[in-house]
Amino acid sequence: MFSVLQVVLALFIVQTAANPLPRANNVILDSATFTGTSTGKVTKFLGIPYAQPPTGDRRFRLPEPIPPYTGTVQATASGPSCPQQSAHLPLPEGLPSDIVDLIANTAYKAIFPESEDCLSINVIVPSTATPTSKLPVAVWIFGGGFELGSPNMYDGGPIVERSIQLGEPVIYVSMNYRLNAFGFLASQEVKDAGLGNLGLQDQREALRWIQKYISSFGGDPTKVTIWGESAGAISAALHMVANDGNHEGLFRGAFMQSGSPIPVGDITHGQVYYDAIAAETGCSSASDTLACLRSVPYATLKTAVDHTPFIFDYQSLALAWIPRADGVFLTDNPQKLVQDGKVANVPFITGDCDDEGTLFSLANLNVTTNAQFRTYIKTFYMPQSTDAELDQIMNLYPSDITKGSPFGTGILNVLSPQFKRLAAFQGDAVFQAPRRFFLEQRSGKQSTWSFLSKRLKGIPLLGSFHFSDILNVYFGGEMEDYLINFVNKLDPNGEGRGINWPKYTTSSPNLVTFNDNLLFPVTISQDTFRTEAISFLTEVTLANPL
Ligand SMILES: *[C@@H]1O[C@H](CO)[C@@H](O)[C@H](O)[C@H]1NC(C)=O
Repeated sequence: MFSVLQVVLALFIVQTAANPLPRANNVILDSATFTGTSTGKVTKFLGIPYAQPPTGDRRFRLPEPIPPYTGTVQATASGPSCPQQSAHLPLPEGLPSDIVDLIANTAYKAIFPESEDCLSINVIVPSTATPTSKLPVAVWIFGGGFELGSPNMYDGGPIVERSIQLGEPVIYVSMNYRLNAFGFLASQEVKDAGLGNLGLQDQREALRWIQKYISSFGGDPTKVTIWGESAGAISAALHMVANDGNHEGLFRGAFMQSGSPIPVGDITHGQVYYDAIAAETGCSSASDTLACLRSVPYATLKTAVDHTPFIFDYQSLALAWIPRADGVFLTDNPQKLVQDGKVANVPFITGDCDDEGTLFSLANLNVTTNAQFRTYIKTFYMPQSTDAELDQIMNLYPSDITKGSPFGTGILNVLSPQFKRLAAFQGDAVFQAPRRFFLEQRSGKQSTWSFLSKRLKGIPLLGSFHFSDILNVYFGGEMEDYLINFVNKLDPNGEGRGINWPKYTTSSPNLVTFNDNLLFPVTISQDTFRTEAISFLTEVTLANPL
């Protein structure tokens, strides 16, 4: 089991190693020649700027298109990551060292260098691709809680190689986007200026860049699938409801691993964090705080950002920096937009891991009593809830350890008295409930598929934790082939590994289920678990989004 984890670690450490046999591989964009690096099978063009640097007066502004390229450019190294919120994770005693390493490498490992000038894009193509190839395109949006992360953490090369092997070649694209306060500043001031959700706007600019340039690499701009994990999957989901569902032809399908339209409310809900940053940088009393924040030195601003709550702090998934309804790009609570039918009408896949909440419950292990659990939920997830609603949540997510997450592990994995309970609640509130709601609302109206990853269940304390399905797609699992099929034909079925994946419908809410079982690694189950609890959660969060 742990050798598999070591493979994950390798993902973060090895990166895109220098190729022993590079050969010239050029692409012409405007009047510039970009040279990439070839392995013989695939060619990588890395670190291409796709927007103007969001620095100086462009900080906290919409991304601006890049002017036409000129000259000769070596596109052989990834660009710097966007500013990362610094991690401080309270890891408990008794976690296996592999797990600690994995988490540490995910959250802490220097995704360096980082720079405010970070809006670059990577394109990986089959080496035989030419400007007439018209290949479908998979656009990867990385996760990291909208606070950290980088495309450099993931190597798309093996996926492109596998697509060639399957006879369904694809192009892989990944982009940087602004994170934490740099990308998701939220307040009345931001709302008035029409400058919300800049990180999503960056992704959108990258999608426009793809429309303009991907054919030069051999791609077909009409065959773009957006795809991501965690914050990346939530991003893909939000692109489906952004602009009231008008996707502007930027993509034709979406593939979401652990992320669906989330219940977030008005952008002014982020005011407290905006005010904290303004205060710490000395901008509070400025007549125009936003202009002031634009003028403070990078290091000062970054320090202030690092003092705001982080995904592995006590409030965990009740994120400080997160997309919110800005009135322009996201006109309402994303779940409301789904309910109103303001959704891009494209085929989509959205699935989750079985134990989405465990990793995040490591941050709140000192919640040990029923009363503390109740206070925690009220404070961070349901500030508007009534006593009756909280009573109901307490009943639907009982303190019975055999009902908690990691699910199906009986009396095991009780790291602290409320750990499994809070893990169950957090996983459902942020992942399972939004996923099921999205599917229930849209199945029958557009093509929908869903999955549940129950792999790595035996990992102590964490079970099939958030992020564990990355193995299945980046390290040669069935998910990789389902993805390649979907990107080619808007249907996950076809070539390669895995069983037939039936659509998700209201009458038959099918979940392709990935198991540890060697005889039955993939089965079909029904999306009927915790029905009452999840529908109540949806009801409450829809009425009072975060
Ligand atoms: C747990 O620790 C955090 C951070 O130190 C603190 O803010 C919180 O109040 C504590 N919660 C409980 C229930 O003791």
